[in-house]
Amino acid sequence: MCTAARQNFKEEKRVFTPSTDDPFQLFNQWYEDASQSEVNDPNAMSLATVDENSMPSVRIVLLKSHDQNGFVFYTNFQSRKGTELSKNPQAAIAFHWKTIRRQVRIEGSTEVVAKNEADEYFQSRPRISQIGAWASQQSEPLDSREQLLNTVQSFEEKYENVSIPRPPHWGGLRLRPTRIEFWHDGEFRLHDRFIFEKTTNAETWKITRLNP
Ligand SMILES: Cc1cc2nc3c(=O)[nH]c(=O)nc-3n(C[C@H](O)[C@H](O)[C@H](O)COP(=O)(O)O)c2cc1C
Repeated sequence: MCTAARQNFKEEKRVFTPSTDDPFQLFNQWYEDASQSEVNDPNAMSLATVDENSMPSVRIVLLKSHDQNGFVFYTNFQSRKGTELSKNPQAAIAFHWKTIRRQVRIEGSTEVVAKNEADEYFQSRPRISQIGAWASQQSEPLDSREQLLNTVQSFEEKYENVSIPRPPHWGGLRLRPTRIEFWHDGEFRLHDRFIFEKTTNAETWKITRLNP
C-alpha cells in the first residue's frame, strides 16, 4: 500500500473493533443496525446442513428469535433440512447485511425448541400461513400447483371456524452457537474479522482477530 493509501486507511471510519466480549450483545447491536437500514428481511440467513455423505446444502430461512440460548428458525421437520438436521444436528448460519456491509457467521448444534414455544409462535402466524404448514409437504415432489391449492382448500374446510393446531411435523429449531464470526467491511479489502469461540468452561468466549 502506498503512503497516501496507508494514511487514508488509518483515518478510515469503517475500522471496527468489538465493543464487548459478549457475542450475543454484539449480534444484537448489529442486528439492530441492519433492521434500521435493510429494505426487507434483515432476519434472512443462509442455513447450511450436511447429509449422510457429508454433502452440504444451503438455503435461506428467517430468524424468528435469538438470545443467549441461540438462534431460532421454524421449518418443516420432514423437509430436506429437517431430515438432515435430525441425523446430524450440526449446522451453520450466515447473515449478510448489504446496507451496512457486514457479515455474521455462526456455527453450532441445533435442537428442537420446546413445544409450548413453537405453539405460541405458530399461533402468532397468519391463518393462511398456518394452513400452509399443514398443506405443504416441504421439499417433496409436487405434481402441480393445482394439487397444492386443493390441499390448502381441504385444510381450510377442515379447520373452518376453529383454531388451527401446530402440525407435529412443523416447529422450531434452535442453533446453539460455539463459534460466531463478525466481519466488517474495510477500505482496500482490509476487512476486520473477529471470531468468538466458546471456551471449554462454556461461560466465556475467546476472541481472535482473523486476517481478512
Ligand atoms: C427470504 C426467504 C425466507 C425463507 N424463510 C424460510 C423459513 O423461515 N423456513 C423455511 O422452512 N423455509 C424458508 N424459506 C424457504 C427455504 O429457503 C427453502 O426453499 C425451503 O425451506 C426448503 O428447503 P430444504 O429443501 O433444504 O429443506 C425461505 C426462503 C426465502 C427466500
